[in-house]
Amino acid sequence: MKNLLADSDLEKLSAHISEQMGLFFPPSKWKTLEQSFCTAARDLGFKDVLECVEKFTSPPPSKELIESMACYLTIGETYFLREVRCFEILEQQIIPEIIKNRQEGKRRLRIWSAGCATGEEPYSIAIMLHRMRDTLIDWDVSILATDINPHALRKSHEGIYSDWSFRTSPAWFKQNFFRQTGDKRYEVLPHIKEMVTFSNINLVEGCYPTLVTNTNAIDVIFCRNVLMYFTPQLAAKVVERFKLCLLDGGWLVVSPCETSNTFLAGFDLVSFPDATLYRKRTGETLKRGKSEPEKGKNVSPILRFPVSGELPASPVQEVAPIPRFTVSPIQANSTVPEANLYQQALTLYEQGAYREAAEMVAVQLVQNQGDTDALALLCRIYANEGKLVEALEVSDRALAADKLSAGLHYLRAVILQEQGMDDEAVASLKKALYLDQDLVLAHFTLGNLEQRKGMIKESQRYFNNALSLLDRYRPEEVIPESDGIFAGRLKEIIMATTVGM
Ligand SMILES: C[S@@+](CC[C@H](N)C(=O)[O-])C[C@H]1O[C@@H](n2cnc3c(N)ncnc32)[C@H](O)[C@@H]1O
Repeated sequence: MKNLLADSDLEKLSAHISEQMGLFFPPSKWKTLEQSFCTAARDLGFKDVLECVEKFTSPPPSKELIESMACYLTIGETYFLREVRCFEILEQQIIPEIIKNRQEGKRRLRIWSAGCATGEEPYSIAIMLHRMRDTLIDWDVSILATDINPHALRKSHEGIYSDWSFRTSPAWFKQNFFRQTGDKRYEVLPHIKEMVTFSNINLVEGCYPTLVTNTNAIDVIFCRNVLMYFTPQLAAKVVERFKLCLLDGGWLVVSPCETSNTFLAGFDLVSFPDATLYRKRTGETLKRGKSEPEKGKNVSPILRFPVSGELPASPVQEVAPIPRFTVSPIQANSTVPEANLYQQALTLYEQGAYREAAEMVAVQLVQNQGDTDALALLCRIYANEGKLVEALEVSDRALAADKLSAGLHYLRAVILQEQGMDDEAVASLKKALYLDQDLVLAHFTLGNLEQRKGMIKESQRYFNNALSLLDRYRPEEVIPESDGIFAGRLKEIIMATTVGM
């Protein structure tokens, strides 16, 4: 085939793709890149490939086109129980350890499949967790599944698969958790489907962790066969953000071909037979130094059913002291002006140094107990650490100081929602809207809550309200109370959420 694009065009194009989508197209892959753009140009109705490339690369970046191109440029190859060892380790070692360590505290388990493609990975996780339902009674379990590719997400929602998706899974897997559709395909059973929430997240944009997308306080992130398509620098950046999303001791699961020392800062590399996982070190968020992997720490013999052996030295979740607004060592020496303290705390929070940020906020609160900005920040810190009881307590204090703040009612609502107290969350959101009917996130969250209850009409109404309020923002504007979500991104999340409604 004759080259339609010059090398200089392809070079520019690959740099643009890397920046917007993370995907790495070195010169050896330019031919494929050109072919993908030719197909896309034809499918999407462009005059020719040059027009398509021109539109794709001209500023400002078009989210719609980026997502459309994701369908042509990404590899959505996946299947149930792919690299089965990861699921065995999850079922037999990681979850049992979390259950053991969290008996006293909040029984919450949060898993994120980032780059879930057509859903086989998150549904495999859901099925594994369903098999453990007897030990997870009374647990608040959530599985978030995200991807950049809207077509893949639609297929995930649908949950219908051909035999090819089951190519390595045992017979019981298909028999017990799927029903035949009549056209030789299989649909995942509703009780498994319900366990997974799908959402559109471009990992390059870094809009995580945030309460808005439930990407905070995560126990296990599966991001397999995704980072390998990114430039090494970008993969390292994404892993850095994952670290902020994970609780101390939380796990990052990548594919065996993706393990890299570049990711190691702040993680322990834990070797299992046939699998190597990353584990976030307790309280190490800010220590950026490289460390050696835990060489040869093969903690258990082969992990086939049944399993024997224990997980390596468990960084049991320590209970961090709640700042009680008493004098702390920092405060004793502190001469920092209030505004600076808050700013510093905010910076530490953004870096994921939650403990240090909480200490700084505590100092601030000694100086001004009713500082609602500081209290709201403390509330978010606790939420990101998974300490929901403490988060709720702090949000109550903040509201006692300022009952008329719509933002604080919204924050309280999100904490309540995370605790599974949906009715109370709805009440708080309605208060927030009474005080500020333009609070986009309150409409969005009410939409989600109504959708969860099956109240589709109501939910659609709230989502529509949110969408029309979003029209008042520029796509790159940050939404109030959102921890940095752009208006354009929230719009996309809502569109993806309402698919098929
Ligand atoms: C090969 S699939 C991996 C599916 C599954 N994790 C597995 O291991 O079987 C890679 C997925 O990563 C998604 N992806 C690629 N770039 C992405 C980005 N920037 N943000 C989010 N997802 C992305 C693709 O759309 C694709 O669905």
